[in-house]
Amino acid sequence: MWEGGERRPVDDHVAYGGRAVRSQRHQLLPVLHAIQDRVGWVSRGALEYACRRLSIPPAEAYGVVSFYARFALQPRGPLTLRVCDDIVCKLSGADEICAAVDAERTPCLGLCDLAPAALVERSGSPYEEMQVAPISLELAAKILQGGAWPDAPRRDEPRSAGQLLRRAGVYDPESLESYRAHGGFAALRRAREMGAEAVIREVTEARLLGRGGAAFPTGRKWESVAKAQARPHYLVCNADESEPGTFKDRVLMEADPFAVVGYIYIRAEYPLARERIENAIAQAREAGLVDIDIEVRRGAGAYICGEETALFNSIEGKRGEPRNKPPFPVEVGLFGKPTLPNNVETLVNVLDIVLDGGPAFASNGTNDSTGSRLFCVSGHVARPGLYEVMMGTPLRELLEQAGADNVQAVLLGGAAGSFLTPDQIDMPLSFEGTRAIGATLGSGAVIVFDETADMKQVLLRIARFFRDESCGQCVPCRVGTKRQEEILERMLAERNGDRRADVMLLSDIAQAMRDASICGLGQTAANAIASGLTQLKVLNGG
Ligand SMILES: Cc1cc2nc3c(=O)[nH]c(=O)nc-3n(C[C@H](O)[C@H](O)[C@H](O)COP(=O)(O)O)c2cc1C
Ligand code: SF4
Repeated sequence: MWEGGERRPVDDHVAYGGRAVRSQRHQLLPVLHAIQDRVGWVSRGALEYACRRLSIPPAEAYGVVSFYARFALQPRGPLTLRVCDDIVCKLSGADEICAAVDAERTPCLGLCDLAPAALVERSGSPYEEMQVAPISLELAAKILQGGAWPDAPRRDEPRSAGQLLRRAGVYDPESLESYRAHGGFAALRRAREMGAEAVIREVTEARLLGRGGAAFPTGRKWESVAKAQARPHYLVCNADESEPGTFKDRVLMEADPFAVVGYIYIRAEYPLARERIENAIAQAREAGLVDIDIEVRRGAGAYICGEETALFNSIEGKRGEPRNKPPFPVEVGLFGKPTLPNNVETLVNVLDIVLDGGPAFASNGTNDSTGSRLFCVSGHVARPGLYEVMMGTPLRELLEQAGADNVQAVLLGGAAGSFLTPDQIDMPLSFEGTRAIGATLGSGAVIVFDETADMKQVLLRIARFFRDESCGQCVPCRVGTKRQEEILERMLAERNGDRRADVMLLSDIAQAMRDASICGLGQTAANAIASGLTQLKVLNGG
């Protein structure tokens, strides 16, 4: 098996995939994926062969392959079932499924609108197949007995669509002609007529803030990269979307793949989105519409790779560990060159900015938060799904549209966000509205909990998430996320007693993580838990 089966995928990639970028190191992840796709796991022999072909020291390559959750270093059975037990799937019975069948657990798969969800992988024949789909106890049992393969999930159209989602569900996402027939490529034509400088001016005038979580002014970032002397300049489209409760970029890529360009980094758990984006690029290239290099990179199961500099390292074939900033990506980014990292939703907004002009875009929403925003509503609501609403819309309106009842709490912004209580839901959904109450829009995740939800379990799941996903590079985060989980477990387990010492300890750890962590993961790892402990009634009465 080793000789033929495992060398082929390596040779295919090194022979045809290589580009003139000094070393071949950046081919490491694609090669590892190719090996695993072909034979189901990455054996020592295959890794050593890949190292020889790519000139990478084996110890370093081992450090990379073992960093990513999706790579298997041991042979696996012909079928693996992983059930998502993250916040939303937990609310929908994931724990009961995990307790009843022999399934592994996985963090959020981005299918929260159809929770509970599972990832199923089947190897053999000869390529590996992957499906992410809704799961039930009955289906899980059938899959494990080899008697079923989950259907592709029913892809719901967005629940409410504005400018941004107007093409979703309207054209055939696998056909360039269909995209054209619905006005596709008009923005590309217009951008070419206008020229780069004018496009950047419109983006600046639109006052668009990044939709990836940090809300950085997009125009300012584009101006900085345009001014940078070093060449080439890279555009990295961040489609790693792993924030629990977030699935907007998946829907955008699945429903409107022709609208997205760049060095596109898509999480491994979005196979359909990747397929559609690759197909869109191939068709656009064949039709002579694209004259820049667009490369799709598959993530490998690491939440931290959504952090922009960790993502660059991952593309370069390294462990997905964030870099210290400065220098900032606009000066020293991917392969050490000026780089523009943008979220999928941010980039899709640019189409309308180019077509309608920056000032027209800025006339929507609020003064400080222009345009519309995508919200991923899930949990205890009658109509979970993706909603596009104007910035400034009260959270109450969104919850009413989604059919939320008996709300106990809302987790806004995912695990890195914070909990809101029913008295806060008149808050406007805008960057300034959330800031005013110490919350954040984050990735647009809106997870709703009704009175039946066990909030202790939710807080513990969030603490486990950060402990698992910390890359371990810096001490405050590596140790802090572990201690945070331990203390929380102790506090929530005790029925009575004085918890003041633990409350103080948690608060000290939170401060240390905020002040001394290298990246946003450590800096935000205590937010949801701190807000949960103060806002929710989890400590009283055991
Ligand atoms: C732990 C962590 C995970 C992140 N995950 C994502 C992600 O999945 N998608 C994303 O666009 N941005 C993510 N970000 C934010 C990126 O670092 C970066 O700010 C963003 O991609 C910039 O794009 P924007 O300006 O268009 O928002 C993450 C940040 C951190 C700290
Ligand atoms: S803060 Fe956490 S995730 Fe970020 S670099 Fe440090 S250890 Fe890694």
